[in-house]
Amino acid sequence: MIVTTKDLFKVAYGKFAIGAYNINNVEQCMGLFKGCMDSQAPFIIQISKGARKYTAKEMLEAVIRAADKVFPGAVFAVHLDHGDEATCYDCINSGFYSSVMIDASHESFEKNVEITKRVVDKAHAKNISVEAELGMLGGVEEHVSVAESDAKLTNPNDAEKFVKQTGCDCLACAIGTSHGAFKFSGTQGLHFDVLEEIQKRLPNFPLVMHGSSSVPQDEVARINAAGGSLKGAKGVDADQFLKAAELGVTKINIDTDGRLVWTRVHREFFKQHPEKFDLRDPGVVFMAEYAKFIADKNVKLGSAGQLPAVKKALGI
Ligand code: G3H
Ligand code: 13P
Ligand code: ZN
Repeated sequence: MIVTTKDLFKVAYGKFAIGAYNINNVEQCMGLFKGCMDSQAPFIIQISKGARKYTAKEMLEAVIRAADKVFPGAVFAVHLDHGDEATCYDCINSGFYSSVMIDASHESFEKNVEITKRVVDKAHAKNISVEAELGMLGGVEEHVSVAESDAKLTNPNDAEKFVKQTGCDCLACAIGTSHGAFKFSGTQGLHFDVLEEIQKRLPNFPLVMHGSSSVPQDEVARINAAGGSLKGAKGVDADQFLKAAELGVTKINIDTDGRLVWTRVHREFFKQHPEKFDLRDPGVVFMAEYAKFIADKNVKLGSAGQLPAVKKALGI
């Protein structure tokens, strides 16, 4: 059942984090639902602008609605990931999305407030919640590439002002992570000190951690052994998710790790079976492996096993 992102946050805040997983195709969707049912976890499906363009924006909506029927016990929200203003409005008007992210973090503070406030006004009129971003993660997002040297941690005082001025429902904070498979050059890690300060200024307000893939080293090694070339790939320590959740992080975004599972499965499959060409053969392996990956990740997030409590709290 599709629920509001806000409702999921109310149940999770301070106790566990909801996994927000990006999908682009049917196989990812099937693996995601199966993994969340196996681990009895609520979840957020994220759709990026690139995912909407990959086939057609209507396609993922149809796939998700079908998955909702195939897995009737699932409880999830549907979220636009890293939207610009026009895409936010398209999603708000579609009647399908539970929440949208307006990412104007590359703009000045004032301009970010102005754009975010416009989106909040339109979204709230339709009972859709809004995630905004303040500070800048390193790495590459669809419409903006941020060099590590330009990445800026979120300023806690600004975060308080920003939330008050925009009325956004949750805030993506830059606390040292970056998008993609190459995080933390050197000895950097998560800035829990920044998170703690933000939580002091915004108690009970849900925070979001982007760029949270763990980039498992065994996955990277298997990809490289099967012909890949990912050198120096590194991610976030998943054992830190619960500490972040206690400090107000209620949504944790994971995309890259899923891509690594896909790459490992397909590279290994075709290396081991050079004579095969039926796309369904590795597809079946991928769906099972992705489901297993999701279930394990939900354990780290603390969302595994929470489905009955979420259903009870939401009266489902
Ligand atoms: O943060 C970006 C997400 O990983 C989505 O990636 O824009 O390539 O679909 P994408
Ligand atoms: P990763 O690249 O670490 O998976 O981050 C995904 C993300 O933040 C999507 O918004
Ligand atoms: Zn992101």
